[in-house]
Amino acid sequence: GNLQKNFFSSRRKLGSRTVAEKLETTLNKDEIESRDERKSFYTLQEERREQAERSVLISCPPTINEKKFLKHLSRHGDINNCFFYETFGTYAVVEFSDKDCVASLKEGTRIPSSQHESTVPFKTRLLSVKTNNLGDQSKTQPSIQCLKQTPIGINDLIQKLSKEDSIDQQLYSLMEEYQLTEENIRLRFLVCSLLKDIAAAYFPECIVRPFGSSVNGFGKLGCDLDMFLDLDTISGRNLKQAGGGFSLEYQMKGMPSERAATQSVLSVIGKCVDQFGPGCVGVQKILNARCPLVRFSHQPSGFQCDLTANNRVAMKSTELLYLYGGLDGRVRAMVFGLRCWARVHGLTSAIAGAWLTNFSLTVMVIFFLQRRTPAVLPTLDRLRDLAGPPDKSVIEGNDCTFVSDFSKIKLEKNTETLEHLLQEFFEFYGNFGFSRLSIDIRKGKEQNKPESSPLHIQNPFEPTLNVSKNVNATQLERFVKLCQESAWLLQQGEVRGRGAAGDAPWGVAALLLPSVSQAAGVAGRKKRKREPASERIKSLLESLKTSKAAGSTASEGG
Ligand code: CTP
Ligand code: MG
Repeated sequence: GNLQKNFFSSRRKLGSRTVAEKLETTLNKDEIESRDERKSFYTLQEERREQAERSVLISCPPTINEKKFLKHLSRHGDINNCFFYETFGTYAVVEFSDKDCVASLKEGTRIPSSQHESTVPFKTRLLSVKTNNLGDQSKTQPSIQCLKQTPIGINDLIQKLSKEDSIDQQLYSLMEEYQLTEENIRLRFLVCSLLKDIAAAYFPECIVRPFGSSVNGFGKLGCDLDMFLDLDTISGRNLKQAGGGFSLEYQMKGMPSERAATQSVLSVIGKCVDQFGPGCVGVQKILNARCPLVRFSHQPSGFQCDLTANNRVAMKSTELLYLYGGLDGRVRAMVFGLRCWARVHGLTSAIAGAWLTNFSLTVMVIFFLQRRTPAVLPTLDRLRDLAGPPDKSVIEGNDCTFVSDFSKIKLEKNTETLEHLLQEFFEFYGNFGFSRLSIDIRKGKEQNKPESSPLHIQNPFEPTLNVSKNVNATQLERFVKLCQESAWLLQQGEVRGRGAAGDAPWGVAALLLPSVSQAAGVAGRKKRKREPASERIKSLLESLKTSKAAGSTASEGG
């Protein structure tokens, strides 16, 4: 019913308001328009990127007078939108109607002077409000409303889900709680745009693009921000040799390899972020990973950031996930539920290691949905066949072509409930021939395993790579066991319907309890013993050993 919103209608567009309107009322959620059109990944990215370029991030005193603040800023031009949030301090994201307004704002902004501290005059769009007594009249004004940028805790979530009336509703409700908000997505694009300003000190025409869960439709509030420094946008690459037998070329320093070039670019940008990037702390250069990166924490936004370069294939897999997530409203709900399930049971972790990643798990869900009859999702080969000329993409010899226009894709008529799909998912992977078979979303069929890793998930765009190369046998076994256990639990009447015991955890909520076996206990069955702590620690250490031997890093695994 109403909860069956798809990805796009649950994304909300804040109505553009002039500052005059904004000064009349505070942001009213009810006035937010919903938008239903399914934009292609590229179109949406470009819109958001352009919007971020017109935006600034401002640290404010928590007692700021919003009206005066906006009035002050609007001297530089119309403000389309503004919202506040709290991390280490209170911040405002202010979107102007035009880039010129930002230039004007920067012109009227002071460089701090302090006797105690020296600064390097590196100007960015991260600013601070300084108020005197006139600007701060909190006592007579309603205080600003701060929007939350983190999800509810697991216990609150379990309680909330227990009050829902069906497993389908539970999954939609979980997604509503966890998914990135409109404002959080804006903030992510803004942080990329701020990073671009830093990188632009070296490469004025570069673009910093978000990829991964920030933009693939499966991101949870609080997830890391994966960024990609795109230098292919720099003009002059495709200029034809001019006529008249005469043309000019830039002299450039040679590099031993593409990888070496990427490493040296990231090395200087990393250094610049570290030394001059306001709010960027804990900068680590991880240049020897399979995919070299600079990792840091952006304090004003609270985002853990990974900056990579020359990572076009990851951008394509991001777009592919976005497309799959947007095709059918059940996909995202199912992935959110399973990501949450995997996380509470320690199948996935914030730390890199020999366990499943969210990316691998998502590909497994997509594969499962391709295997239904009728199929919920089309194969990647099918999406490639539907592609038009502008969709053509070949990256390092790999064909990454697939359709980007939603309207060209006709789905089969599968009407299974989420409850049924979830049950079937657990049974499918609880009995899957992992020892022999590989998961391949391009063909949408199991293939024979080309190598002996415990879990083989073919990388959709780099067929020689295994997305889950990092996963060891112990972790795969844990996944399989939990699938079997969860399948069994869902089959039991007790977790299927809202129990007589009022708000006792049931359905998805029961699957999320720290120990699934104990959930059975709640429903009145005999409690099984939990794995002793020593066992769990043993398996953790084992995983760490294996991952170290494989030289695994956060971004490794193909
Ligand atoms: N990626 C990939 N192959 C891998 C790992 C990652 O192509 N073996 C790409 C995917 O597009 C993925 C992105 O890199 O979405 C970012 O990776 P990661 O941060 O590990 O995953 P996310 O999808 O962002 O999920 P999370 O919320 O856990 O960060
Ligand atoms: Mg990520």
